[in-house]
Amino acid sequence: MTSILEQLKTQFTQALVAAFGEEMVTQDPLIAPTNNPKFGDYQCNVALSLAKPLKQKPRDIAQTLINHLQLQEMCEPPEIAGPGFINLTLKPQYLAQHLTTLQQDPRLGVETAKHPQKVIVDFSSPNIAKEMHVGHLRSTIIGDSIARILEFRGHDVLRLNHVGDWGTQFGMLIAYLREAYPEALTTANALDLGDLVSLYRQAKQRFDEDEDFRETARQEVVNLQAGAEDSRHAWQLLCNQSRKEFQAIYDALDIKLQERGESFYNPLLPGVVETLDNSGILAEDQGAKCVFLDGFSNKEGNPLPLIVQKSDGGYNYATTDLAALQYRIRQDEAERIIYVTDAGQANHFTQVFQVAKKAGILPEQVDVVHVPFGLVQGEDGKKLKTRSGETVRLRDLLDEAVDRAYQDVEQRLQTENRQEDEDFKHHVAQVIGLSAVKYADLSQNRTSNYVFSYNKMLALQGNTSPYLLYAYVRIQGISRKGNIDFSQLSAIGKISKPLTQLNWKPLLWAFFALLVGFLGIDITVRIYRELHSIPLLPSVFQLTGFFYTLWFIYNRLLFQKDRKKLWQDIQETKETVLGEPQPPALPVVALPPEPTPGGIVLAAEAELNLAKHLLQLSDILQEVERDLLPNRLCQYLYELSQKFNQFFEQCPVLKAEEPVRTSRLMLCNLTAETLKLGLSLLGIPVLERM
Ligand code: ARG
Repeated sequence: MTSILEQLKTQFTQALVAAFGEEMVTQDPLIAPTNNPKFGDYQCNVALSLAKPLKQKPRDIAQTLINHLQLQEMCEPPEIAGPGFINLTLKPQYLAQHLTTLQQDPRLGVETAKHPQKVIVDFSSPNIAKEMHVGHLRSTIIGDSIARILEFRGHDVLRLNHVGDWGTQFGMLIAYLREAYPEALTTANALDLGDLVSLYRQAKQRFDEDEDFRETARQEVVNLQAGAEDSRHAWQLLCNQSRKEFQAIYDALDIKLQERGESFYNPLLPGVVETLDNSGILAEDQGAKCVFLDGFSNKEGNPLPLIVQKSDGGYNYATTDLAALQYRIRQDEAERIIYVTDAGQANHFTQVFQVAKKAGILPEQVDVVHVPFGLVQGEDGKKLKTRSGETVRLRDLLDEAVDRAYQDVEQRLQTENRQEDEDFKHHVAQVIGLSAVKYADLSQNRTSNYVFSYNKMLALQGNTSPYLLYAYVRIQGISRKGNIDFSQLSAIGKISKPLTQLNWKPLLWAFFALLVGFLGIDITVRIYRELHSIPLLPSVFQLTGFFYTLWFIYNRLLFQKDRKKLWQDIQETKETVLGEPQPPALPVVALPPEPTPGGIVLAAEAELNLAKHLLQLSDILQEVERDLLPNRLCQYLYELSQKFNQFFEQCPVLKAEEPVRTSRLMLCNLTAETLKLGLSLLGIPVLERM
């Protein structure tokens, strides 16, 4: 189903071409939804931007455009406002029709991409033997949501975990463990990651203080590089230890990722340096191999180098990223590669991409994007720390969110005087706690820093996950209260296929053909009768009339009883689908009952607002797919919940009279389905009750 915005764009492009010539095909019609109903639902600004090139007044351009537009079915007559904006208001009838189609579409009107791509999302990517920190948490949450949205749009997504599992730090760590805890290097699970992190610190201290130890550590790196059995084994153990800890976090957050760490690209590094050399951009600077960069210079104004091989022969983080890029383009055949890391790595990626382009590793048609995000701050505005001033462990952070959610649930149950069992409370707390952390992260524009506050993220009011979850629960409550099976509602839409949707042309032709055939036979019979003088031979029309009368009597008289029963059946099915008929409430708004294609009637302002919002999901998702800003989806869902709540406060649902009641139930159901789908794309499951 084409979204409304796309339909409008097509219409405007056609009008532009008709009015101003073929070259307008490439002109962006500049249409966007308005945020003030005063300006209608959509506004087109193209007349203003065409004023100069066309040397005409914008208002005149707008008028010419309107004269060429064919929007009678979709919109009220377009209005020209201010210097030349064209304001468009959608017709309720059109909205209702569109919603009916949505109702029967499990994808809720979101089409799959016209040109599906092979996309790599490089996210999470913590470092072995180090704690996974809040920065990695942000990357995990944002990267996962981006991957989910791209997958839903039909792209072939490879989710890669580029873990830091290689480098000189492993030499240092193994050397230290050999000295201090030799058993840790031979027995699996002798340490947990907490130990590993503090051991890492001790090793680093030793490394900084002791020249002999530095030498041993270096030797250990060489051994590891050379593939020495026991060094490899020790390294494997360390990796497994960390992996287990990371996996626990991924499981809790329902994150799917494929590990392909830095070590994977290690054998390819010499080849990368060779590629750079062959392309003639490799230089030598104080014994190190490097590429001088455009747009990066030191204080003296000399270009800065990107070092790809140090003077001791070791490689850098950037070298690995060059190798990874090459592999992902050649072997994985990626067409779009997305890197989700903190904004601090922006320069790193700009440099890597620049060098890769120069070396011919990165062809023009491959789209590489760094998706940067800001810092996570404590409520004091500083870097997030525990009360004792240490970096916060992710496990603890998530556990605390769930604990606090649990307390909230208990309190709410108490005030509402409800009894629920432990399983229920734990499940609800788990979903609310974890989704609150995810949503708090996703709902911010990722480029800014965000303040981590349990109170804010767990609040039932505001742009939070509990608020959205609650809107969903509220709708499920309506279905329980009215005994309504939402899944059957869309069937009602299917029963009454609106006449406007019937394809008249072939029907008319068939009718015409039948008539001609009929006449032909009738004339033949008459001629035969005249020729052979058989006066009793009836004409075809007489025969038809006779049989029709028989059929009518048979139907009316003999099957009266069955028809009654059939009618009762229909009523009963309707009741089970729609619940017990409710006593009619006092009408709040006067509703002119319009013809209802598919059962949806839109009249009250809150209904119209909700309907228009429901129809925008597809546009929003395409926006996120392009700009990689999941907060747009959050904002959309938040506004949806707000509009639903307004609708629910102003428009009685269960107590409304038919056909409004069914129509409103459909709006409820569509809202719930949209919330569920939208939240799932943020990695958040819904609750039926909470
Ligand atoms: N391990 C890195 C870090 O913790 C992130 C890796 C991001 N991905 C990449 N291809 N460089 O900062």
